[in-house]
Amino acid sequence: MLIAGNWKMFKGPAEAEAFLAGFEPPEGVDIVLCPPYISLAAAVATGATIYAQNVHWEEQGPYTGEVSATMLLELGVQGALVGHSERRQLFGETDETVARRARAALEAGLGVIACVGETLEQREAGDTELVLKIQVEAIAYAAGSHPNLVIAYEPVWAIGTGKTASPEQAEEAHVFIRDVLDRPVLYGGSVKPENAAELLSREAIGGALVGGASLEPESFAAICQAASRS
Ligand code: PGA
Repeated sequence: MLIAGNWKMFKGPAEAEAFLAGFEPPEGVDIVLCPPYISLAAAVATGATIYAQNVHWEEQGPYTGEVSATMLLELGVQGALVGHSERRQLFGETDETVARRARAALEAGLGVIACVGETLEQREAGDTELVLKIQVEAIAYAAGSHPNLVIAYEPVWAIGTGKTASPEQAEEAHVFIRDVLDRPVLYGGSVKPENAAELLSREAIGGALVGGASLEPESFAAICQAASRS
């Protein structure tokens, strides 16, 4: 069971270090935290498993604002998210760029959590499976079922909205994704201490990608505890 905390654009180095210095991970759960780039070094220094929130596919070059897998490895970072819906929706990330990022990171030796998920409009139009198939196939085509690849199913309508997919909705999507690509699938989208146990009890749900509730040590610890019990 893997629980990943995505801190998005929160927590500079001092806050990241303070959070991790006081954090005791429970037994039997793999825990990953994804701080902003500027806080990666401070977070790595605490000994925690740290992933970046994105990674470029080239090793170096004229790509302003981007960071490569080699650079992350030099810092002691162990993996990266790719394709988060905020990257797709706000920063022009496409299935192709997500696939290229995933492949390069895996080839360099990083772990990858590749995010997929439908918008509310797509769900209401009955296109959830079509969207998931296109997104997951792009990743599968580039990376195959690489052992260091994990998929995160994050319905866009459930991210930061307080609306969670029901365990049935999540499980249905996870089973579908695993039929396309046989890798573990995390659920993300308003995971909180109150709903974590129920979601994580589902066989097809291999862990969680947590945004808002990973920012407070108490709520993140409660979610990790729920994972260690399931
Ligand atoms: P949330 O974010 O838990 O705040 O909904 C999840 C994510 O964006 O990964």
